[in-house]
Amino acid sequence: MSRYQQLQLSLLENRKTWLITGVAGFIGSNLMEKLLQLNQEVIGLDNFSTGHKHNIDAVLNNVTGEQASRFKLIEGDIRELEICKTCCENADVVLHQAALGSVPRSINDPIATNQNNIDGFLNILVAARDAGVQRFVYAASSSTYGDHPDLPKVENRIGQPLSPYAVTKYVNELYARVFGQIYNMQCIGLRYFNVFGRRQDPNGAYAAVIPKWIAGLFRSEPVYINGDGETSRDFCYIDNAVQANLLAASVKDEKAVGQVYNVAFGDRTTLNQLFYMIRDLVSEMQPEAANIKPVYRDFRPGDVRHSQADISKAKQLLGYEPAYAVFDGLRETVTWFKDNVI
Ligand SMILES: NC(=O)c1ccc[n+]([C@@H]2O[C@H](COP(=O)([O-])OP(=O)(O)OC[C@H]3O[C@@H](n4cnc5c(N)ncnc54)[C@H](O)[C@@H]3O)[C@@H](O)[C@H]2O)c1
Repeated sequence: MSRYQQLQLSLLENRKTWLITGVAGFIGSNLMEKLLQLNQEVIGLDNFSTGHKHNIDAVLNNVTGEQASRFKLIEGDIRELEICKTCCENADVVLHQAALGSVPRSINDPIATNQNNIDGFLNILVAARDAGVQRFVYAASSSTYGDHPDLPKVENRIGQPLSPYAVTKYVNELYARVFGQIYNMQCIGLRYFNVFGRRQDPNGAYAAVIPKWIAGLFRSEPVYINGDGETSRDFCYIDNAVQANLLAASVKDEKAVGQVYNVAFGDRTTLNQLFYMIRDLVSEMQPEAANIKPVYRDFRPGDVRHSQADISKAKQLLGYEPAYAVFDGLRETVTWFKDNVI
């Protein structure tokens, strides 16, 4: 049995209280769903800036009435310390997801990104420290690798950040490390690499590429590729990211705490390959999509050219075993969008 399977069985027997910040968002709502299914108590915090109430409602519909009764929503903002303190009061574990995502958003509005991602992060970290939570797991980012040329990316070799967003995510890591050293807090950072899956927002100027393309193909709208399409990423299906969070929240090995980990599948897919994989899947359900061609436009400032993770550290220290390769995850995602969004 894998470490993740064992962990799920043990959680079913041992109830904890989890605070998920950013619970109405893509990753937060998926964490909420998994934890409720494992009979955990979940407190969710969100200010609904980029997340949606319908994500929470969907999760509450997907779980049993008893599981749903173990969820408590606090509508509030991590930029307010008092709210953070209230949320952390009874939490055993914090899974901190709330932040303003998107590199282009941070280039357009670096102050808002800084306030949410650094001030907000520090508030929740201080509140978690004061409440004496057992473990603080937070969303870091592959953008921290910045201009470092090495592939695959290994956790201890980073370059200079290429965007305000990347600066904020790196500052999170610095704060977490210092809080570990000074206050003995048990912090673990997860450097997500392009996570995708159900409930990721396909709409708005800052939508991520996979939900945007799936929705575009189903709706017969133009699908844009920034640059020549040979830009590559390590796309990671949501269930792999959920697994990494639960393992990080529960790992006992002291060496595994106070670390950052790549959370990815460990493979590299170009945007051109991604487009044709998604188009094939959408065409199975909507044959006319097979004729849609991508529209190429300029590269986006702040984007790194290639990205691929070395995931051996998470495998070794956390027991992380990503169960979904990119194509398997895309199949799940396209089916979900067809049934729930289109
Ligand atoms: N999705 C990815 O591929 C990816 C990659 C790297 C890092 N991340 C990080 O993972 C985390 C979750 O990302 P996501 O894709 O689920 O994004 P998302 O936008 O779907 O979710 C973020 C949630 O945080 C909430 N939020 C934002 N600011 C807040 C504030 N000040 N107070 C309270 N709530 C606030 C939003 O309303 C939203 O519900 C973020 O920290 C993001 O930077 C995501």
